Amino acid sequence: MPAVRAGAAGAVITGWGVAVPPKILTNDDLAGSMDTSDEWITERTGIRSRHVGGTTAGLSVESGRRALDRAGLPPEEIDVLVLSTTTPDRTVPASSATVQTELGLRCGAFDVNAACSGFVYGLVVAHGLIAMGADKALVIGTDTLSRITDWDDRNTAVLFADGSGAVVLERVEGRGQLLGWDLDADGTAERFLYADIGGYLKMDGREVFRRAVRIMVDSAQKSLDAAGLEAEDVALVVPHQANIRIIESACQRLGVPMERTATVLHRTGNTSSASIPLALADALDAGRVHEGDNVLMVGFGAGMTAASAVIQWAEAGPVRHVP
Ligand code: ACO
Repeated sequence: MPAVRAGAAGAVITGWGVAVPPKILTNDDLAGSMDTSDEWITERTGIRSRHVGGTTAGLSVESGRRALDRAGLPPEEIDVLVLSTTTPDRTVPASSATVQTELGLRCGAFDVNAACSGFVYGLVVAHGLIAMGADKALVIGTDTLSRITDWDDRNTAVLFADGSGAVVLERVEGRGQLLGWDLDADGTAERFLYADIGGYLKMDGREVFRRAVRIMVDSAQKSLDAAGLEAEDVALVVPHQANIRIIESACQRLGVPMERTATVLHRTGNTSSASIPLALADALDAGRVHEGDNVLMVGFGAGMTAASAVIQWAEAGPVRHVP
């Protein structure tokens, strides 16, 4: 699909929150139960530890509540909940139904599954709903990949983990934060990364790596073009947190130095839908994002999907107006 410009009615992020389960698994913990080592995992992936445990709905409620608190909004003011997850707690109903009631929301709620690109898919969909009249949206990205990971398979067990990140979007006058976006999918590549219902994740790591770099760069470029920006205009890239070498290769091809990336994978592993909001929240909490900064979020995942969005950060003041 070609990149598309943002719609007329805009939105800004006014709150964010994260949640990870308390249990931490280090590389040494994994090396104690399979043929791997801290050195191999750190060198090949950048991951040192990860959080495992919890449920998709439980983690989503935690991150969602924090995002609402930060935005200063009571739950009943949210008009729609979009939950991105590839690991729902049950086949039916959607996990967003559980989250909706536990958070005290009184609005429509649905799940989006676009694997690790899902949070950006959800963010774009929520902007579309706001452009069509919704006032406030809660977008959550959560995955509990540990439940579909084969803990005897060193090809995947060293990568995947659990977590959740959420943002509150509020309608503003004017164009809002979203300057450009792109959603892609290539189903011919689905065999390289999949999990059958009731089964574990199976992955051709080298093929996923090769394609990931290409599709991230391609999607990012489409969003930048739609926004009328060059790579040098980007203050911060928030990439999917799969492997530090994928991020390095993609950023090198894009022409963005690594100092301008947000990375948390050394302590989170690959949390799929949660990885971009976890990294975004980390950068926001560290004061790395300032008024007017262009922030490029870009993800890739099973499907194979890719998604990116460029937002121009606007502090949410009492008058939430972006010219
Ligand atoms: N520990 C020790 N050795 C290992 C491990 C391990 N955990 N895994 C593989 N090896 C060995 C291999 O057997 C191989 O040995 P050989 O040379 O004797 O054959 C050697 O290490 C190199 O293996 P490669 O597969 O070539 O290693 P590579 O550098 O490609 O790293 C990795 C593998 C980390 C999986 C990498 O390919 C990768 O990150 N791919 C992308 C995966 C990804 O991002 N998936 C998520 C997609 S997003 C989503 O939707 C969930």
